[in-house]
Amino acid sequence: MNILVTGGMGYIGSHTCLALYKAGFTPIIYDNLSNSSIKVLEQLKIIANHTFEFVEGDINDRDKLEATLNDYNIKAVFHFASLKAVGKSTEQPLRYYDNNVSGTVTLLTAMQKSAVKQIIFSSSATVYGDPQYLPIDEKHPITATNPYGWTKVMVEQILNDWCLANEQNLAIALRYFNPAGAHPSGLLGESPTGIPNNLMPYISQTAVGQREFVNIFGNDYDTEDGTGVRDYIHIMDLAEGHVAAFSTHQKDSGSLVYNLGTGKGYTVLEIITAFSSSANVEINYKFAPRRAGDIASNFANASLAQEKLGWKAKLNIKAMTDDTWRWQSKYPNGLED
Ligand SMILES: NC(=O)c1ccc[n+]([C@@H]2O[C@H](COP(=O)([O-])OP(=O)(O)OC[C@H]3O[C@@H](n4cnc5c(N)ncnc54)[C@H](O)[C@@H]3O)[C@@H](O)[C@H]2O)c1
Repeated sequence: MNILVTGGMGYIGSHTCLALYKAGFTPIIYDNLSNSSIKVLEQLKIIANHTFEFVEGDINDRDKLEATLNDYNIKAVFHFASLKAVGKSTEQPLRYYDNNVSGTVTLLTAMQKSAVKQIIFSSSATVYGDPQYLPIDEKHPITATNPYGWTKVMVEQILNDWCLANEQNLAIALRYFNPAGAHPSGLLGESPTGIPNNLMPYISQTAVGQREFVNIFGNDYDTEDGTGVRDYIHIMDLAEGHVAAFSTHQKDSGSLVYNLGTGKGYTVLEIITAFSSSANVEINYKFAPRRAGDIASNFANASLAQEKLGWKAKLNIKAMTDDTWRWQSKYPNGLED
């Protein structure tokens, strides 16, 4: 079965293509390469011993989307393509709404025209805003604290309405907690452009000497060691979560939502210690004041996915830091070098 993977050259999309292929599906990658390298294709080929189909295109290009959906006889779409830098989204909100929200409307319009009725969407735990309780389950109220977060809230609403309008449509929004780690081969991983938004690439860039130290924002939170707690999930587990969601609901319809997290939080200092031991290097860090809008702790109640999808994150923090280090030390500047 052919599945269109928008944003399939990116960090989460590329790993999910491998999981889809392993499960017997045929991913067709659709990406405009705005935040990824064409070299990802070579890495995928080495890992899977398979040449993945790639179409260079934008999700705002309806004609190209329609042609691709028809040419490849696509049955479902895994939709990863989006801009994701929270800070930039506050500086350039229109760009974010255009890419993430309008782009999704264009994608759904093309799908409707081509009678493709199933979509798996990359949502985020950011739709929970500041947690009102922990661990966060799917019933927690939805809101956002920045334009990026609002794009996720809006797309979830659009998917809901799209399913209400046609009872055959299926939309599954997967709310990721904190994706981390890399492919265990070290051939594929996250290589953010500019200053990383996420902790793990920041630490790994510090470990290879690209950054002097890790800034830890706040050491007086009400947590075990005073630093913030987040729910890190290994990218390989996350990729498998997508396959589990699609395989389980392939014959269903309606709008569904699942948390993908481990249910366990780690502090910033615990992650730094784990990374130090994986890389066998000292990682410098400095404490800085809390950042506005940051929260002490955030972790998932992941029991719905376990109950309904039979999926549970298996890999621990050591696997995340070991695999990130393998990738970072092999490709210190990402694949472009
Ligand atoms: N990485 C995280 O921490 C995280 C957390 C929660 C949710 N998400 C969501 O998961 C999805 C994938 O994230 P990622 O970390 O792999 O990001 P990424 O930037 O590595 O991958 C996104 C891919 O989409 C492509 N893309 C962007 N806009 C496009 C467009 N208009 N047309 C075609 N392709 C386009 C980029 O070139 C890139 O290859 C995103 O929707 C993101 O918002 C990510």
